[in-house]
Amino acid sequence: MLQDTAALPSRDDLYRPVKSLMAREDWDALFADDIAAIMELKRQRDAVILAHNYQTPEIFHCVADIRGDSLALARAAQDIKQKVVIMAGVHFMAETVKMLNPEKTVLIPDDQAGCSLAEGITAENVRTLKAQHPGVPVVTYVNSSAAVKAETDICCTSGNARRVVESLGVPEVIMIPDEFLARNIENETGIKMHTWSARCEVHELFTPQEIRQYRRLQGPLSVIAHPECSPDVVAAADHAGSTASMINYIEDNKPEKVMLITECSMSDNLSAMYPETHFVRPCNLCPHMKRITLKNIRQALETMSTEVLIPDALQAPARLAVERMLAI
Ligand code: 13P
Ligand code: SF4
Repeated sequence: MLQDTAALPSRDDLYRPVKSLMAREDWDALFADDIAAIMELKRQRDAVILAHNYQTPEIFHCVADIRGDSLALARAAQDIKQKVVIMAGVHFMAETVKMLNPEKTVLIPDDQAGCSLAEGITAENVRTLKAQHPGVPVVTYVNSSAAVKAETDICCTSGNARRVVESLGVPEVIMIPDEFLARNIENETGIKMHTWSARCEVHELFTPQEIRQYRRLQGPLSVIAHPECSPDVVAAADHAGSTASMINYIEDNKPEKVMLITECSMSDNLSAMYPETHFVRPCNLCPHMKRITLKNIRQALETMSTEVLIPDALQAPARLAVERMLAI
């Protein structure tokens, strides 16, 4: 392969996107060396970094090549040219990339970066639900393990859940594992949901009382909730949608003051992109997303670990469920 000889970006260029968020001296002291090393290692390893919207700004803005919500990252994963993929996100996201790229090396910088939804249901649980509701299609949120996806007819993300469910043209579905996402989609579509009791440990903490309190204190405020929040929270918001939909809302409406009912880094990352918008932040941290750091991204590239693998028996059925979703 031809060696890429293009110059790497300068430190000034790498700092620029986060200059409204942190002082240059802090960035230099805390992040600059790791960022420079990662840029060089990406070239040596022929690697690309995919970063979810919940990654911290120094990852999201300074080293990521492709950024997005779960759906955008899965779509991008269909068209990766590099040999190595680093997932700056959680384990199920890395598994989805590996399913779509079995021949590539997919690395996660911390293999303990899980998700309360993915851990909240097993393949055995899905088989039990299918036996209870014979013939009812199973729609599985991508926040799930490969073993659970392999039991599934089709996957969805928060960005396309409604479209996926409506595409089936049936009066009822088994929608797992997120109880709240399923109830929110049931309210939007009128399609009956048989669901499971798993929840996102970050989004289940928000309450409608909290939203009402902020509205009282802050005056005119656009409130955008993630659909992993309870139906009561979604009803108290002005708009509900995936993390990408939150960005689109801000881009289209340019609200003066906005409150994102979601993970903390979302507002940090967007406030760097939309300096005119004031972000009110009653956020909650995702401990799993926060396991990914510049230091362990650098280490993953140095040591080429931890590699994400899918057991052979799960690869084809799990991939089919993801591909059906991506075809919609
Ligand atoms: P998005 O698909 O909206 O980015 O959500 C992923 C996630 O884990 C939210 O908690
Ligand atoms: Fe999972 Fe919630 Fe963290 Fe998203 S925010 S990765 S759903 S625990």
